[in-house]
Amino acid sequence: GLSTDFIFLFPNHRLVTPACLEKLNQRRDISSWLARWFPRTPAKSVVALKTPIKVELVAGKTYRWCVCGRSKKQPFCDGSHFFQRTGLSPLKFKAQETRTVMLCTCKATQKPPYCDGTHRSERVQKAEVGAPL
Ligand code: FES
Repeated sequence: GLSTDFIFLFPNHRLVTPACLEKLNQRRDISSWLARWFPRTPAKSVVALKTPIKVELVAGKTYRWCVCGRSKKQPFCDGSHFFQRTGLSPLKFKAQETRTVMLCTCKATQKPPYCDGTHRSERVQKAEVGAPL
């Protein structure tokens, strides 16, 4: 843990005052906060829907495609990956041209953020909405 690292880093630091302990405690709080909100092992993506969503992308605009499957604004991110502490991040992409595309919502596509037809597979069709594959 952090406190042992701290002691290891400062082996000659003999004087342990209440202020020192308080500082150690604060550092531990920060690390547990970080571990809580930015978990190292990411959660699995869940199936948001089993059909893609047609979207008109505008040239030059940046989009954030939901990767975790928990967003209520499919196919885009609404911050759920963070608030549900998934350790996942949305896929940010910039549209090169204005065009209508099909964006994946099953989160199993091999060509994110675009639908590649994977949602039609038995694996996705048998999965539960809101559950991982
Ligand atoms: S919606 Fe995911 S591959 Fe089609």
